[in-house]
Parts: sequence; C-alpha cells; structure tokens
Amino acid sequence: MLKVGVLVSGGGTNFQAIINAIESEKLKDTKIVTLVSSNPNAYALERAKKHNIDAVCIRKKDYETDILYQKSLIEHMRSKQVELVVMAGFMVVIGSLFIKEFENKIINIHPSLIPSFCGNGYYGLKVHEAVLEKGVKVTGATVHFVTEETDGGPIIMQKPVTVLEDDTPEQLQKRVMEEAEWEILPNVIQLFAHNRLKVIGNHVKIL
Ligand code: GAR
Repeated sequence: MLKVGVLVSGGGTNFQAIINAIESEKLKDTKIVTLVSSNPNAYALERAKKHNIDAVCIRKKDYETDILYQKSLIEHMRSKQVELVVMAGFMVVIGSLFIKEFENKIINIHPSLIPSFCGNGYYGLKVHEAVLEKGVKVTGATVHFVTEETDGGPIIMQKPVTVLEDDTPEQLQKRVMEEAEWEILPNVIQLFAHNRLKVIGNHVKIL
C-alpha cells in the first residue's frame, strides 16, 4: 500500500479527485496518510475531515527560517511514513532540503502544458489568464516530478484541452480541471504505486 502525503493551499478539488479515485477503486493500493495545508482556511481541510483523513496546517510564516519550515514538513511526512508527496494545488515554492529528502518522490499538478505558461508567477487562475491573453488554441494540464527548478522537473503525463473562443479564465480553469487534472493526477499516482515510473535524466518512462 503506497502511503501518500498531499500538500494543498486552497479548495482541494484535485485532493478530492484522489479521494474519489481511491473510494471508487479506480486507484488501488494507495492510501492518503496525511493532508498538509499551507492555509488554515483551505476548504481542503474540510474535505479531509469528511473522509477521516489526518490533516494539519503547516505555515511557512510560523517558522523563523525557511530551513526550519522545511525540517518541520520533512518531520511530519516522516512521522506518517509518506512514500509519495503529491502537490495538489500547493502554492508554496518548496526548498531544496525537502526536495532532496524526497527525490523523485514528489509530484505536482500544473494547469498548463509545460513548458508553456509555467514557472515563477504562473499559478492558479493566472495561468489561464495568460493562456487567453496569448491566444493559444490548446492548453491542458501536466503532472511532473518536482525538482528545484519551478515546474521544470521531468514530465510524467500531460493532457490537452481545447481553448474555446468565448472562454473566461474561470471557465477555462474549470474545464482544464474537469477534462484533464482530475483524470491525470490519480492516473499518475496509480502508476507510481505500481512502480511503473522510471526517471531517466529529464525523461520519464512508463513501464
Ligand atoms: C489547480 O488548477 C492546480 O493545477 C493549480 O491550482 C489549482 C488548485 O485547485 N496549481 C498550480 O497552479 C500550481 N502551480 P484545487 O485546490 O481545487 O485542486
């Protein structure tokens, strides 16, 4: 049974998609052992409560230094014996101590087709605003391993979504979630749980 720790900052619909996939047995051999929110008011905390999942809020600003914050996150994940960390709408840039501790064991969902519309400053609705501003016809979502380069780690899975003429950022965000994010995130976790992801340099081979 793969023990998963989920990191969130907000609503947690991707977190919910993982819960739903586990409960409907589409996602097997996986257990969410903890939810960590960077925000005490995140609705994701309510979702955890409803499904009896251990949940805590760990905030960077409560620590004197970034290193102490990372150490606290590492300690928490270790105490829950986490084997895979899933960033599901986590809006904090995480430091190298944490990334090294869980090398090739942290995945992130990003709401665009990386390497477009990603990196510092591209998160949440801002991504979809930039997509519409640029006028691209196709966008989508990406799940990738997390490295020290923001949104720059090995790409695991992507799914395209068509941009419609009259889309607002909110409508596009909703469709990217429904048509891509909620599908590929549980799918990647399933592959990880069954040891089917092999990282070779910047490439991920699905075995
Ligand atoms: C999702 O669209 C996720 O891809 C995005 O934030 C949203 C969180 O929604 N993540 C990023 O932008 C990370 N750079 P959720 O809390 O409902 O899952």
